[in-house]
Amino acid sequence: MKKKKKTKLRPWVIFLIVFMITSTAICLAFRKPEEKKESSGNIQTPSEDKGINAHEDEFDHNDNPAHKNEPVATEGAAEQTKVLEDYIPDEIPDVSKIDTTKIAGEYDPNPDTEGLEVIDQSILGDTAKIKYLKALTDKGAVIEIINGTSYVNGILMVNKTYRLPSYYVPKDTHEAINGRPYVYGGLVNEAWDAWQEMQAAAKKERLNISISSGYRSYDTQETLFSNYVMMQGLEAADTFSARAGHSEHQSGLCFDLNSVNDTFTGTAEGRWVNDNCYKYGFCVRFPEGKDDMTGYKYESWHLRYVGVQLATELYNEGDWLSIEEYFGLTSTYNYEYVAADGDEIDMTDSEDIEGT
Ligand code: DAL
Ligand code: ZN
Repeated sequence: MKKKKKTKLRPWVIFLIVFMITSTAICLAFRKPEEKKESSGNIQTPSEDKGINAHEDEFDHNDNPAHKNEPVATEGAAEQTKVLEDYIPDEIPDVSKIDTTKIAGEYDPNPDTEGLEVIDQSILGDTAKIKYLKALTDKGAVIEIINGTSYVNGILMVNKTYRLPSYYVPKDTHEAINGRPYVYGGLVNEAWDAWQEMQAAAKKERLNISISSGYRSYDTQETLFSNYVMMQGLEAADTFSARAGHSEHQSGLCFDLNSVNDTFTGTAEGRWVNDNCYKYGFCVRFPEGKDDMTGYKYESWHLRYVGVQLATELYNEGDWLSIEEYFGLTSTYNYEYVAADGDEIDMTDSEDIEGT
């Protein structure tokens, strides 16, 4: 009878089995927590995971120059925003249901909060009241109003509906752009650096672009707008010039180029700016044919810094979108203009002021 041969495991086979068992054990021990949940049948959807902020990923917040530019009057803005996060309402109201006549106001220590999801808390001391509103547009963008300053998905928002407080002064600015009185303080550094890059790129193409009107304070804008009203009447002025508090020039994030009128559009410079400014983070803020959305006539010379990512979206392969249509925002005045008392308006240098 033939003796049955005993099968002996070779050492390398034993080593392989031990290696596989050990590596599987290590992998299991170091799994990410969410992988563990999934495999135990407890799968979270992205929206459950992020709760009320789930919609915010529809737009990217990273390319965001505005949050670095909180108004001077809200010192410690980072801490304040952090504190505010603790007070975000559970339900974000639909912006279409909000009475917008109440959201464009300046910071008011005793705001009329009727109809608004506003949190007003004395958190930072007796004088530092917080006025906060968070709302959604029908396109899922998030509007936040912090002490009267508005942000859409983190981008500073200024138009006829959303105004800047009169005390708003941009921070971290490049010094004076030129000697004119109304550009003192200059542009926000990030916008200034992008501008320098763009100007250099234009120069390489033998094109000359220069800033004619950059930062304008609330008071300067008031003088400028009053001038236009006196010369052309309110109805006309409202189509091309912003009332004080409603101009992006007060933000230090925008400027007017070269001739500041329609002649710029057809020049080689105007065409180049239209097709290239987005590469440097600028958008044509009042695109052609978008008057009903932006509230203003086409201005080929008025650029707003929004960062490369958003600017590229707005450029839309050459068919510029307005910020309003992209985010689903209105731009309409919700109050009657009352001309400031002539004595209150400083007309010094008013003849030097140009720009729209
Ligand atoms: N021309 C734009 C609307 C401004 O005055 O800011
Ligand atoms: Zn302008």
